[in-house]
Amino acid sequence: MKLDDALDQIAELPDFPEPGVVFRDLTPLFGHPKAFSVVIDALADAVGEVDQLAAVEARGFVLAAAVAYAKGIGVTLVRKAGKLPSVAGRVDYQLEYGTATLELPADAVRTGQRVAIVDDVLATGGTVAATRELLTEAGADVRSVAVVLELAALGGRDKLGDLPLHVLRTV
Ligand code: PRP
Ligand code: HPA
Repeated sequence: MKLDDALDQIAELPDFPEPGVVFRDLTPLFGHPKAFSVVIDALADAVGEVDQLAAVEARGFVLAAAVAYAKGIGVTLVRKAGKLPSVAGRVDYQLEYGTATLELPADAVRTGQRVAIVDDVLATGGTVAATRELLTEAGADVRSVAVVLELAALGGRDKLGDLPLHVLRTV
């Protein structure tokens, strides 16, 4: 299966989670055995040479865990607030719809460790920017970001400065 055909599994749902938002739903892609593996392989290529991946709950975990397995490296699981017994850092951030707080587990990354952030969607860029901030404050060397889908109209890439961003499809 070609990458473009795999990405065609992403569905569009108008007016979710609120009127005026067109929600891109990756659920069919996650559920398709061939499309999922094609996308995982493409992300694994995109992140390049790193020591560790980082991902944000929930959908980021599905992708990053599979990419980490494909690359033979580990993954740091950045959580929404209140889930972790021991926290290295915490940051509030804005989402396309609403706000949230992210927490980095204690001892998740070592100083100088090369880390790539993997997620499903780059929308406003708030999630990735907050994750980068947490990782950098903890001493990690954040090298790149890889996402399946970039929602260009929301301008997320502008929040990343010169951090290399790899996108499988831009809409
Ligand atoms: C979604 C998506 C990205 C983020 C993108 O996650 O999975 O992580 O929003 O938006 P941004 O670029 O504007 O920050 P969400 O917080 O909805 O959580 P979920 O994966 O638990 O559904
Ligand atoms: N789809 C999935 N996740 C998202 C979206 C979307 O359209 N916007 C912000 N996060």
